[in-house]
Order: sequence, then C-alpha cells, then structure tokens
Amino acid sequence: MNAINPAELRALIRPDRVHRSLYTDPAIFTLEMKNLFGRAWVYVGHDSLVPKPGDYLASRIGSEPVLLSRHTDGKVYVIYNRCSHRGAAVCNEERGNVKLFRCPYHGWTFAANGDLDAVSMRRGYGPDFDLNDPALNMGRVPRMEVYRGFVFASLSAEGPSLAEFLGHARESLDEIVDRAPDGELDLSGGVHKYVFRGNWKLQLENVVDMYHVPFSHESTISRSGRQFGRRPGEESASAISDKGAAADRWEQRVAWGAAQYGHSYAGHQPVAEGLPDDPVFKEYVAALEARHGKARTEEILVPRRHNTAFFPNMTLQALNYHVRVIIPLAVDRTEIHVYPVQFKGAPAAMNAGFVRHMNVTHSAASFIQTDDLECFRRCQEGIATQGSDWVWFARGTDTDREDEHGDFINKGTVETQQRAQHAAWLHFMSQPA
Ligand code: FES
Ligand SMILES: [Fe+2]
Repeated sequence: MNAINPAELRALIRPDRVHRSLYTDPAIFTLEMKNLFGRAWVYVGHDSLVPKPGDYLASRIGSEPVLLSRHTDGKVYVIYNRCSHRGAAVCNEERGNVKLFRCPYHGWTFAANGDLDAVSMRRGYGPDFDLNDPALNMGRVPRMEVYRGFVFASLSAEGPSLAEFLGHARESLDEIVDRAPDGELDLSGGVHKYVFRGNWKLQLENVVDMYHVPFSHESTISRSGRQFGRRPGEESASAISDKGAAADRWEQRVAWGAAQYGHSYAGHQPVAEGLPDDPVFKEYVAALEARHGKARTEEILVPRRHNTAFFPNMTLQALNYHVRVIIPLAVDRTEIHVYPVQFKGAPAAMNAGFVRHMNVTHSAASFIQTDDLECFRRCQEGIATQGSDWVWFARGTDTDREDEHGDFINKGTVETQQRAQHAAWLHFMSQPA
C-alpha cells in the first residue's frame, strides 16, 4: 500500500472485524506515527519519576524521542531530545539528573526546560548571533498536561483538551490515585521491559480482553478452577474457569468502550471484592480514614475497574497495580515498560507487597504476561499469512448499548473495548492532513 486515502482506511474497519494490514503493513505503521501518535494525547511518563529539579526521563511520542524533565522552576516539561545546533540526540541515558543537558557533539548546553544555556566557543559566532533566539532552544512539544501525576503530551497544537480526550476513562486515574493515602502515586519502584515480535495494537487489545483469560492463562488455574492468589497473603484467587466456560460472576463484569478517542476498561475481577483482613491493611485503611473519613474511605475501596486501556499507549491495572507503556518500534515489533504502582502514605510493607506481586504476574518472566506474549507472537505470525484478510472482533455486537454519556457498555467477555479502539484508530488515521 503506498498513498493511503481516507476511503481506503475506512474499508479496513468493519463493525465486526478489521483488515489484517493494520498489523502487518509498514505503510500503515508509518501513517500511524504521523496521524495517530502525531495527533492524540500520548502518555509520556509519571511525575514521580522526575521528582527533583534536573531529573529527566527519556520517552517517546510515537517515533519521536522526547525528554520528560523537571526544571528549576519545579515544573515538568516535555522537550524534543534533539540538539538545536545540528540535530544530535542530546541525552543518551534513560533516566538521571543533570545540572544542564550537554550535547555530545559540539558541547552546547541546555536547561532542563529546553532553553539554550550556552554555545561553546561563543566568539566564533560573531556579534549578531542572537543567543536568545527561541530557534536555538531544544523545542518543547506543542501541548502537554499533567493529570494527577500522569503526564500526557500531544505533537499537535490543535485538538481536544486532555480532559475532553480522556473523557470518562479519566475516572480510572482518579480511582487509583484516591486509594493512595497521600493522594499521590509513586512509580519509581523499578521497571520491567520486554520487546515482542508483534504489532503494538495486540498489547492494547489484550489488556481489556476478558475472553482469553481461561484459555491463555489456563496454566495459572488449579484443578478446582481457581487462579493462584493475585494479592499479597492470598492462597488462591477468582474461580474463572469451569472447563472453558467462565464463571457466572465473571460474565457480570462490565465492559466499557469510549464513544470517542478509543479508551476502554474491563470491570473488576470478583477476587477484588473481598478486602484483606491483616494488620498492614488495617493500618492502610486507618491512613485513608484519617484523610477522607470512614464513608469516603469505604467508597474509595470499592473495586470497580480492573484494566483500563488509555488509547493509544498506556494501560493501568487496579488489582496487581501497575502502569504499562506501549512503545511501537516497527509494524511487527513493540517494546513494553511495566511500572509497579505504589501508594504514597501507605504502609511500606503493603507497597513492597504490590511490587512483589506485580513481579509474579506481569514481569517478562511472570506467570501471566508470558502467556500473552506467546499469543502476540503467534497472532503476528498468523495474521501475516495469506489464510484470511480479516481479524474478528464480533463478540457482543448484538448486545452493545450506550450508557448515559453515549459511551458503549456491555458485560462479560465481549469485544466492545477493542471495537472502541478501532473506531478511534480510524478517526485519527483518516483525518485530513
Ligand atoms: S549537534 Fe549539538 S552542539 Fe552541535
Ligand atoms: Fe492475558
């Protein structure tokens, strides 16, 4: 496929299926970087990863390398990782702290907000060379916003505000941040990284796919049909399988997909319903009650959402708490970073338990993530063959309905969430340049 016009793009998405070229065509991938990642609000990082002035985190917006940094004014900035002189990538480390960014090529230096600090051997430039010319700064991305510690940026100066873009998916951020007694999350507990041989959408679709669980993750289920303990101190977790049929309560889980912009979530797992009854958890509840009072604390602890997929590149899980960042490298190659979430103000033992359990479930060598990665690789291999042009997402097309906001809602193991993702994909991809 060479030039791809909107009509051709529309032909790739049907109500119950999408064309395989979404996963295999390098021209589609190139257009995604421009039209989708170049227009949407993209998650860049969390402000707890850059707590002090001079701290920075290397990130990407699609194929554009950027830096999330904290300046001496205390604010976070998102700047292009590009020297204004001759274009060298200024920063080669993934995370660190600098007084100034110093370009390795000719030694120009920049402040953490991207402003030019000095050019080396200044006298060679003559008296008319204006060091205050903004073109000499490392450029800042056109738009960035922070919502409760989560930093999003857009390469487009135009478009919806972040609040409008996130819509009711934003409540998933509120729910998890409100569970931190100090009202803030800490994502600095480490990061798991893995690369898989598959398209980035395979991971985004998967986190809100409740259909695959009893099958892909069969090895995590005991003979009695219960999964291993998903939270600290628990011997076993949900009954999720009865010889292939999901348990009744599993079928009652909410499936939600945004009418616009592609976000989605799967309702909480039954296992999330019982609250632990141990001294550490009691200490945590007391810390929440001290801040919010008893009634609000009870409300905060009600489980509602399991995985939320923030289109196009971030996911949040509220059982084995973690944030996952999806980094598209090529049409058939994707990198994932998984950050365990810790609650500021919660007992240290509880936070340590979160990190330990997330290692068990979602690290590259974990019980659960490994199963999904094997399926991503197999999907990519199968989709690339001539067997069929279509990949199916038909579950629940007959039972989808609209909620009070006009978003899509359903129950159980439907593919409502993935259909929302594909609708947003088409929306961004087919907008005129
Ligand atoms: S390319 Fe950065 S100083 Fe020359
Ligand atoms: Fe899975």
